[in-house]
Amino acid sequence: MKDQLPLIMNNRAGMIQELKKAMELYSDLGFEYLPLKRANILNLISGGAVLDYKPDRGSPSQQVAEQTADYYSNKETALEELRNEIGDCHRCKLSTGRKNIVFGEGKADADIMFIGEGPGRDEDIQARPFVGDAGKLLTNLILKLGLQRQDVYIANIVKCRPPNNRNPEEDEISICGPFVERQIAIINPKVIVCLGKISAQTIIRSKITISKLRGNFHSYNDIPVMPTFHPAYLLRNPKDKWLTWEDMQKVLEKLK
Ligand code: URA
Repeated sequence: MKDQLPLIMNNRAGMIQELKKAMELYSDLGFEYLPLKRANILNLISGGAVLDYKPDRGSPSQQVAEQTADYYSNKETALEELRNEIGDCHRCKLSTGRKNIVFGEGKADADIMFIGEGPGRDEDIQARPFVGDAGKLLTNLILKLGLQRQDVYIANIVKCRPPNNRNPEEDEISICGPFVERQIAIINPKVIVCLGKISAQTIIRSKITISKLRGNFHSYNDIPVMPTFHPAYLLRNPKDKWLTWEDMQKVLEKLK
């Protein structure tokens, strides 16, 4: 052990140098944190990684780059696997009237995840969330926040269109709800925005009205949740748009 010490010190210094370079590179690229595995960091701190560290496995900056790529592609793969698991779902009665399952779309590693209620007519046809009139309002809101649709993730509580756009019923929510919960677990967003009563009440498990819930942060598994009005409500009540705008400012503030 005594003989190994200078070697450890040398390698350790070299490794920290390499890691520092990698950190600087990622910081220049705009990364605010690196999704390193906890064990690797603990190893590094304790010096354990120094003994394990073999330069021929690639420099730490290469290893960090590979892990980062893995982290993002793992989320995409996990979402794909979840979609495959849902399959041609017939778990509830909504399956009988739908044309398409609307799984959700967007960035697998999004900071903001919007959750609506369930697909409407246009979404059912196109198999994409929020593409009808309410969707256009949501897309505009996202753009006005300085983001693109592809920067966020958009999903619904139920993945099949309820007949005549009625509210999803309790049995449908309890059968389909676990899928959106798994989407949340995979994406692990920094903030969830619940669009409308059904989404907010389901995610934060509350019976309080949307007018009372909106505007304040709630919590889902330690993720801050901002309930706000559903875009379809805002189409009918444009005078309330500023309230949703205010809610979204709080979301942006939270992300700083
Ligand atoms: N309303 C929703 O709640 N979700 C959609 O995807 C479209 C409209």
